[in-house]
Amino acid sequence: MSVFGEMQLRGKSALVTGGGSGINLAIAKRFAEHGAKVALVGRTKEKLDAAAGEIRAAGGVAAGYPADVREYEVLAAAIKSAREEHGPLDIVVCGAAGNFPAPALGMSANAFKSVVDIDLLGTFNTCRAAFEHLRRPGASIVSISAMQAFTPTPLQAHVCAAKAGVDMLTKCLAIEWGSEGVRVNSIAPGAVDETEGMKRLAPTPEIRSAFMKSVPLKRFATKEEIADLALFLCSDAAQFITGSIMVCDGGQSLAGIGMSMMAALKPRA
Ligand code: COA
Repeated sequence: MSVFGEMQLRGKSALVTGGGSGINLAIAKRFAEHGAKVALVGRTKEKLDAAAGEIRAAGGVAAGYPADVREYEVLAAAIKSAREEHGPLDIVVCGAAGNFPAPALGMSANAFKSVVDIDLLGTFNTCRAAFEHLRRPGASIVSISAMQAFTPTPLQAHVCAAKAGVDMLTKCLAIEWGSEGVRVNSIAPGAVDETEGMKRLAPTPEIRSAFMKSVPLKRFATKEEIADLALFLCSDAAQFITGSIMVCDGGQSLAGIGMSMMAALKPRA
């Protein structure tokens, strides 16, 4: 159970893309624990069914709606089905993402496009298709961004470009949809343990350890910590927060040259 009191989202209806695993599944579980009915959208039906089964086994309400966020019509139909089953949406989490480490010269135009299409176009598609099902005061959208949105990162040109776009989209939609009472925010996690992303970006104990040294809090986030932030953003406690990019990275994005200097100079305590 989260750090929040119980049932922050009682009776609400939430939809989470990429909800079959990782941070997004942790968010869906957290929402369900707090009383929301959750619709999980993702490419693989079996994965969604297993994830929804876990949530139901824990006493929540959940169902899977297979769709690729890159395919607008299929996605819009999945969102419509979720609305028919769970009622008008109160919360949408745009979490579907793709990543692999590669230098710019090591990725084809299609490789770059694949990540931009999943992360940025997929987020636009989700917001665009979901809006008619959630356009009322109190509704909330949260997109999962990343530190790469504002930290230029080698081997991550595709993700940096896509996530920077996601954050700008968040800000534009926050302005456009504010008059309808719909809030739009991003979460920018740093390294989150036990996720597909970290398996790809820190595949060995040595790389994990180097990564961890660059985090002022000296550890990775847990998926549940990101889920708690999503819960906060979608709760009544955040009613005046919109257009924000909430960084949750243990201070890693602040560190930059400062951390390298600390390591290199080894100052006396
Ligand atoms: N290095 C360079 N290029 C790569 C690559 C790598 N490690 N992995 C994939 N690609 C290229 C492929 O070669 C292909 O380009 P091509 O057509 O010119 O050969 C292109 O990326 C698309 O790959 P494909 O596997 O067909 O796309 P997909 O849509 O099925 O998969 C990915 C999308 C590539 C992002 C895949 O990694 C994925 O599905 N990821 C989802 C899970 C994930 O990444 N989670 C972490 C989120 S933080």
